[in-house]
Amino acid sequence: MGNSQLVYSLFLFIINFCFSSSSSTNSNSIHRCPDEQRDALLLFKRNISSTNESNYHHLYVYSGFLYSSYVDNYCGDLNGYGPIRIMDWNTSRDCCDWDGINCNNSTGDVIGLDLKCGMLQGLSDLDIVLSSLPSLEAIDLSYSGLSVVIRNNGHYANPYLFDLRLASCNLSVFPDFLRAMKHLRVLDLSSNYIRGHLPSWAGEIGGNNNLTYLDLSDNSITSLPEFRSVGLQYVYLQSNLIAGSFPPWICNMKRLKYLDISDNRISEMVPRCLRNINSSLVSLNVGSNMIQGPFPMTICNMGSLLYLDMSNNSFQGLIPECFGNITSSLAMINLGKNRFNGTIPKVYGDCGRLDGLLLNGNMLEGEVPNSLSKCQSLKLLDLGHNRLNGTFPRWLGDLPKLQALVLRSNNLHGTIEASATPGFLFSSLFVFDISNNNFIGRLPEKYFENFNAIKDVDKGPRTDFVNISGLHYYSIINPAKGLQPIIDLKYTIVDLSSNRFDGQIPDVIGNLKSLIVLNLSNNNLNGQIPHALGFIQDMESLDLSRNQLEGEIPQSLVNLTSLEIINLSQNHLVGRIPEGPQLLTFEEDSYLGNPGLCGPPLYRSQCEDLSTAQVEAEGGERINYMEPGLLGLGCGTLLGLVLGYRMLSTGRPKWFTAIANAGGRHIPCRRRKKRKQTHTRNRI
Ligand SMILES: *[C@@H]1O[C@H](CO)[C@@H](O)[C@H](O)[C@H]1NC(C)=O
Ligand SMILES: *[C@@H]1O[C@H](CO)[C@@H](O)[C@H](O)[C@H]1NC(C)=O
Ligand SMILES: *[C@@H]1O[C@H](CO)[C@@H](O)[C@H](O)[C@H]1NC(C)=O
Ligand SMILES: *[C@@H]1O[C@H](CO)[C@@H](O)[C@H](O)[C@H]1NC(C)=O
Ligand SMILES: *[C@@H]1O[C@H](CO)[C@@H](O)[C@H](O)[C@H]1NC(C)=O
Ligand SMILES: *[C@@H]1O[C@H](CO)[C@@H](O)[C@H](O)[C@H]1NC(C)=O
Ligand SMILES: *[C@@H]1O[C@H](CO)[C@@H](O)[C@H](O)[C@H]1NC(C)=O
Ligand SMILES: *[C@@H]1O[C@H](CO)[C@@H](O)[C@H](O)[C@H]1NC(C)=O
Ligand SMILES: *[C@@H]1O[C@H](CO)[C@@H](O)[C@H](O)[C@H]1NC(C)=O
Ligand SMILES: *[C@@H]1O[C@H](CO)[C@@H](O)[C@H](O)[C@H]1NC(C)=O
Ligand SMILES: *[C@@H]1O[C@H](CO)[C@@H](O)[C@H](O)[C@H]1NC(C)=O
Ligand SMILES: *[C@@H]1O[C@H](CO)[C@@H](O)[C@H](O)[C@H]1NC(C)=O
Repeated sequence: MGNSQLVYSLFLFIINFCFSSSSSTNSNSIHRCPDEQRDALLLFKRNISSTNESNYHHLYVYSGFLYSSYVDNYCGDLNGYGPIRIMDWNTSRDCCDWDGINCNNSTGDVIGLDLKCGMLQGLSDLDIVLSSLPSLEAIDLSYSGLSVVIRNNGHYANPYLFDLRLASCNLSVFPDFLRAMKHLRVLDLSSNYIRGHLPSWAGEIGGNNNLTYLDLSDNSITSLPEFRSVGLQYVYLQSNLIAGSFPPWICNMKRLKYLDISDNRISEMVPRCLRNINSSLVSLNVGSNMIQGPFPMTICNMGSLLYLDMSNNSFQGLIPECFGNITSSLAMINLGKNRFNGTIPKVYGDCGRLDGLLLNGNMLEGEVPNSLSKCQSLKLLDLGHNRLNGTFPRWLGDLPKLQALVLRSNNLHGTIEASATPGFLFSSLFVFDISNNNFIGRLPEKYFENFNAIKDVDKGPRTDFVNISGLHYYSIINPAKGLQPIIDLKYTIVDLSSNRFDGQIPDVIGNLKSLIVLNLSNNNLNGQIPHALGFIQDMESLDLSRNQLEGEIPQSLVNLTSLEIINLSQNHLVGRIPEGPQLLTFEEDSYLGNPGLCGPPLYRSQCEDLSTAQVEAEGGERINYMEPGLLGLGCGTLLGLVLGYRMLSTGRPKWFTAIANAGGRHIPCRRRKKRKQTHTRNRI
């Protein structure tokens, strides 16, 4: 912490110094930059100043999974990011040497203004900038911290402007000056406050083929005109209020590669239209809309498709057999949270590319198809919340890269551990969630021995993530902007709760040194709580409630100093609750339903008072049991607020609402590191 603080202070010193330097010009320097353009830039500068309050982490939302990652010295979020930059406008130098200013080498005209991620604050009148710098070709003020004002009271001729990026610039109007810009190739107005219908002339921006990149995501746009530029390759319209059927003009864009129209109010797909773009599309995201109807078969013929997200809609019916063919060419498939029924199609082909398959939250039945064992690159498999039956798919243990296996809330049965399986035994797994099924037998000691990934997670920059839906715990970085989605699992979870496991908790579990969440609740486990649990020093949530555990709570648990949630209620534990600084911070609910327990925080805080009579009396009492998820409530709310600050500062009210609403749900959370608190403190 000390080190990064120091670097940070130095960094602040530098920007403050640079931006406050005198504006007197050095008469000896060669002026390539025309005087009137330099004066215009000085005027621009007068309104702005540097700040240390910026985006210190980015947040990604992917299909309802909120991902937040605290990366020092980065700015931006879902819609773009980059390293924070120190802007040095030493006004004794020629203005062409100022940071972010780009000039034509022969004329000296200012042609580029790039203040992206500049850690600035203040107000900038774009009309003045455009009219005083007529040779501008590219403007990027995204995430600079500047609030851009556009008066829409004049038309400026900037005949060369081809690249305009104003993401997250507190923009509330769609700029009129775009009307004249037939040369525009890149337009990014994402994460602003543009609302309602876009004017119909907007469709002419970039002429008939110049515009290739259009990002209007994360505004409040309700409808769009038909864009004409058939050169479009990147279309980002996600997180708006676009309603009705899928906009058919999109299908005229025969070169379209990346399309994200997720998180809108689209109610219908138009498969016939999609057929026109079946050979160019690389990424198709229609998730989080209100689309009904069957799986569009056209998708099976999309020869270049790598990323498909149809999650969180109302697609219904069977997943067609041809799906088994696209699993061999796609890298990421998310059909989660729909109403698909029937069985999971068999995987044809070699399935060598598939990184992630998410079919959670449907009504799928039958067994987990063992043709999935061909998917040797699979990192993430989520089949949770379906109606799958059959036994535990042991052969998944041989997938060498599998990081997350989520089978929660199905009807799977039988024992889970293989008798003597050689092979990988889930050695890369971070998340093992088979909760809420009908599994029986002993806990899988062999797997615990082989969870190598959980034994030693890279202690590099930690990522925090929560999810809004209460479903589960992994995250995928959005493939927006043509980036490869990265499944980034640093949150280690073993959840075997709500099954019928019996026997003792094996000591080897203490070897899972990097485990963060352990949930074995609601089984028939007996014996003592292993002393070895105290070795899992990073553990943040431990739930052993609703079992038949007996004996004393091991003293070693006082070593779990990161614990945010502990629930040992509804067992047969006895004796005094160990007194450690962390254990003392929990409420009584964590221990209720163990008539033999005593000591704070229990109401029965004096162990000597514990007479057998009282124990018996309590044994018959109806205990007001608290759902384990609710125990985390305070913490989750806190996390929501912390994230909320930043979202307010970058203007993402929709997310803020989503998180605020999720406050009462199961939000696994982590203790904020002090360093992070300093980043957010002054944003309150
Ligand atoms: C600004 O530039 C001048 C001329 O290059 C130089 O002498 C001076 O030290 C610079 N000032 C700062 C604060 O960097
Ligand atoms: C610089 O200006 C000259 C003269 O106007 C022009 O021909 C040239 O294309 C410009 N170069 C750039 C990179 O804009
Ligand atoms: C101007 O010249 C420099 C150095 O020769 C070069 O790196 C830069 O790309 C040129 N800029 C433009 C816009 O041509
Ligand atoms: C500076 O800010 C004022 C309002 O505070 C505004 O009227 C003016 O146009 C701004 N100037 C520039 C160059 O952005
Ligand atoms: C954003 O713009 C609104 C007006 O549209 C203004 O009231 C508000 O102060 C601006 N926010 C910032 C941070 O400049
Ligand atoms: C595309 O831009 C070029 C210059 O970059 C321009 O000459 C042309 O007219 C534009 N195309 C259309 C269809 O407007
Ligand atoms: C796209 O669809 C058309 C018309 O249905 C078909 O002829 C063509 O083969 C398809 N392209 C691919 C790559 O499947
Ligand atoms: C899927 O692939 C198999 C084997 O290559 C082929 O027989 C079948 O016709 C394909 N199905 C579809 C719907 O494309
Ligand atoms: C799947 O759901 C549809 C209605 O959406 C129903 O007609 C069909 O019988 C169901 N199929 C199976 C196998 O359950
Ligand atoms: C599993 O589900 C399938 C399809 O619903 C059904 O035919 C089969 O009987 C079920 N098997 C068991 C063991 O419940
Ligand atoms: C807690 O951890 C320390 C250091 O790892 C160890 O020496 C001590 O025995 C542990 N305490 C208990 C009660 O296990
Ligand atoms: C930001 O700068 C202000 C004064 O310039 C300082 O008081 C504050 O502590 C700084 N914030 C952080 C997070 O360093």
